[in-house]
Amino acid sequence: MNHTAFDHRKYAPAPVIAKPDRRWPNQRITRAPLFASVDLRDGNQALERPMSVEQKLRFFDLLVAIGLTEIEVGFPSASQADFDFTRRLIEEGRIPPQVTIQVLTQARPDLITRSFEALAGVPRAIVHVYNSTNPVQREQVFGMDRAGVRAIAENGARWVRDAATAYPDTEWSFQYSPESYSATEPDYAVEVVDAVNAIWRPDRGQRVIINLPATVEITTPNAFADQVEWFCDRVAMRDHFVLSLHTHNDRGTGVAAAELGLLAGADRLEGTLFGNGERTGNMDLITMAMNLYSQGIDPTLELSDMEGIEKVYRECTALPVHPRHPWAGELVYTAFSGSHQDAIRKGLSHRARHGGKWNVPYLPIDPLDLGRRYEAVVRINSQSGKGGVAHVLERDHGIRLPRWLAVEFARQVQTEAEVTGAEVNSRTVRALFERFYLEVPAEWRLAGYRMNRQGGQVDIDVQLEQSGVVQRLTARGDGVVSALVAALARRYGVALEVVEFDEHALEHSTGARALAAVAITVNGARVAGAAIAEDSAGAAVQAILTALATSGACSAGEVAELRRVQ
Ligand code: KIV
Ligand code: ZN
Repeated sequence: MNHTAFDHRKYAPAPVIAKPDRRWPNQRITRAPLFASVDLRDGNQALERPMSVEQKLRFFDLLVAIGLTEIEVGFPSASQADFDFTRRLIEEGRIPPQVTIQVLTQARPDLITRSFEALAGVPRAIVHVYNSTNPVQREQVFGMDRAGVRAIAENGARWVRDAATAYPDTEWSFQYSPESYSATEPDYAVEVVDAVNAIWRPDRGQRVIINLPATVEITTPNAFADQVEWFCDRVAMRDHFVLSLHTHNDRGTGVAAAELGLLAGADRLEGTLFGNGERTGNMDLITMAMNLYSQGIDPTLELSDMEGIEKVYRECTALPVHPRHPWAGELVYTAFSGSHQDAIRKGLSHRARHGGKWNVPYLPIDPLDLGRRYEAVVRINSQSGKGGVAHVLERDHGIRLPRWLAVEFARQVQTEAEVTGAEVNSRTVRALFERFYLEVPAEWRLAGYRMNRQGGQVDIDVQLEQSGVVQRLTARGDGVVSALVAALARRYGVALEVVEFDEHALEHSTGARALAAVAITVNGARVAGAAIAEDSAGAAVQAILTALATSGACSAGEVAELRRVQ
């Protein structure tokens, strides 16, 4: 291990604004911001293999279907592929009326001219010009002072304004980003934005978007929110432009920064699906929108076909969606842990009975909303307990277990899962239940029975088919179970006691209608058995015989003797 290289003293903390008068902590997000996608630009620029034009078209259609109304489609002055793509969108009439496309350009006259050429003929568009404003870039990259960098922005604003006049049929929005805003001195960022707005004049009707990027996320979301609120308080013409944020996720808090930025006064958020983008990515639009949704706020994006969205995303970007990706991952609505499964099962059944606002333990939203099935919610492995196992049997096989049997059976399933080390699927859970409780040795199979109730007494006549011969066993008692148990105990000379008994109708059964489960002690040793039959009495008799067979305390041959001896 190279200990000398890992030295935190190499780093300085990011500067923070002293802002004791911050108001944003008392705000609430009550509606969705205007969402803008930068998948086809920032996201695409970060791909190992940028999307082909066909892939971009497919992705664009997805963004439209989701409900994005502002979509940055590329950097046409820097990339011929982006230029061609922008032209195809326009020439093939692929931009629906509610959608405004946006292109990014650096603040250089030739690039701005080319960007407008790419947009020729579009009914509405946003031209997005940017330059870095932070001291590191000013000093190390541009070798310029504050005034020099401000002049870049002002010139960019002028060129954009002037170029637009050549395309009077297009409704133009102008967007300016002081790149690395969060690493820029706050007063200087305001100075530059004011200078840009003095040229664009949003107060005179020009639609302007000022976009504050956390180009590299360098601090905590609360510090970013302070920066946004500070900016809003000091920038000129604040009521006349749209304030947009563009956060990245270097510290893993790109969404949190955007959320707190909304509290601090932003109107619009730029981001990408599943947070694709440079390095650790951009603000994830899906997480952001679903965070709103889960609070009862209309996110304005339609995400119900999450599987379909993921498919297009994966196929176009060649990137996977992490199985634990917030809201969308394959495993985020799955519980393996026993206590979680138990709580979910109870919560879902409580909800089925009482309805109301969604409030189910461990499930912050209803998975069905995103096209996920409840079947996937509870999955069984060695961490699972009675709740999960019972849930799977009931949900998929209509078999409702009494608590005592659920506890006992879960132990069997857990052992199985520990042996294989793998997930136990629903079919295997059913197979294990059959193996441990339902399977009847051939000699113990109930061929039929007759029952006669008289004066509070029950006479039963049980027929077992053994080696092709029907053997009969008759008994009398207060009920079917007690009569049979007493007769069997007498016959074998064993202490036989019923310690648990449960029977119920099977819910979604086609043929057989009843399930009986019984735990008996045979000379003190506990065994359990269950049976599914046409009716509850038949199921009860078979369950007792199966349990007795499992105990190994007597052989089927001896039962056959029973009738002859009596
Ligand atoms: O991250 C960034 O700063 C950008 C700008 C071009 C907006 O992508
Ligand atoms: Zn970016």
